[in-house]
Amino acid sequence: MNIIRRPRRNRQSAAIRDMVQETRLHPSDFIFPVFILEGQQVRSEVRSMPGIYRYSQDLLLDEIGRCLDLGITTFDLFPNLSESKKDKYATESHNPDGLYLQTVRAIKEKYPEATIMTDVAMDPYSSDGHDGLVENGQILNDETLEILGRMAVAQAQAGADIVGPSDMMDGRVSYLRQELDDAGFQNVAIMSYCAKYASAFYGPFRDALDSAPKFGDKKTYQMNPANRREALIEAELDTIEGADMLMVKPALAYLDIISLLRQNSNLPIAAYNVSGEYAMIKAAAQNGWLDGERAMMESLMAIKRAGADVILTYFAKEAAALLR
Ligand code: PBG
Repeated sequence: MNIIRRPRRNRQSAAIRDMVQETRLHPSDFIFPVFILEGQQVRSEVRSMPGIYRYSQDLLLDEIGRCLDLGITTFDLFPNLSESKKDKYATESHNPDGLYLQTVRAIKEKYPEATIMTDVAMDPYSSDGHDGLVENGQILNDETLEILGRMAVAQAQAGADIVGPSDMMDGRVSYLRQELDDAGFQNVAIMSYCAKYASAFYGPFRDALDSAPKFGDKKTYQMNPANRREALIEAELDTIEGADMLMVKPALAYLDIISLLRQNSNLPIAAYNVSGEYAMIKAAAQNGWLDGERAMMESLMAIKRAGADVILTYFAKEAAALLR
């Protein structure tokens, strides 16, 4: 056979394959989302996320220590609050002595080298279970911004390095930038949930926080999964408004959107490999239907190959341990 070009030559040994490998994962690519629970010495597994736990503050500190040892540097915190702490205005979100902000302070005190990302949205604190303020069944945009602003400044005061508005209200990036700057937090970065879709893949996360909406859905603020150009509109706005990093969420069903933003922006692109994506692989692996470790690494690689610089993933710890 007269075959001049033989791509298989570059696949013939592990050493050559390794040498020509185009994409590599590293523990510093990952942000580990972690769930905090009230109480002491409590560790409770999320029903729909095998291997993922909600920790009380004391045990979370130990867990963060273990993750730092594995090379994971950045953590995204989410609180599970009892129903009695929730109200219409998400008041608990800016209580400096509340579970969330106190935990941020405790982490930064014990591990100053850890980078802490905090979540800016009302849902974990809202008796309505929505990301914004609800009035007569409507989500009010501009009134929500004031609450988010107070939340973000309180998080910065507690020591947050990066705030992550996950609410999808219009104008929130510029509003938060202004509020943070006015309060003297010019160095606190904003990772905006830029293209965040109204997705079925958030189900297990809402189990973890008991934060499912009490009525309706999130389609008036989260994006329609059918839309691609709209992601460019969001990216343009968040960039003009001062975002430091843009996020696409979910990741696996939206690799085209990651790639699109990568090609159209010079900002770092993050992707959130969400709870449902984690649950799918875990469930199949537990059934013996696929090799969980390989499926995990292949998925993370695909997200990076699509153009993500940063991956928020519940697999962070497991993947970092494998990459060692
Ligand atoms: C809400 C928020 C959600 C997630 C992060 N922040 C869920 C939602 O929008 O209902 C989902 C993360 C995941 O599924 O892993 N502010």
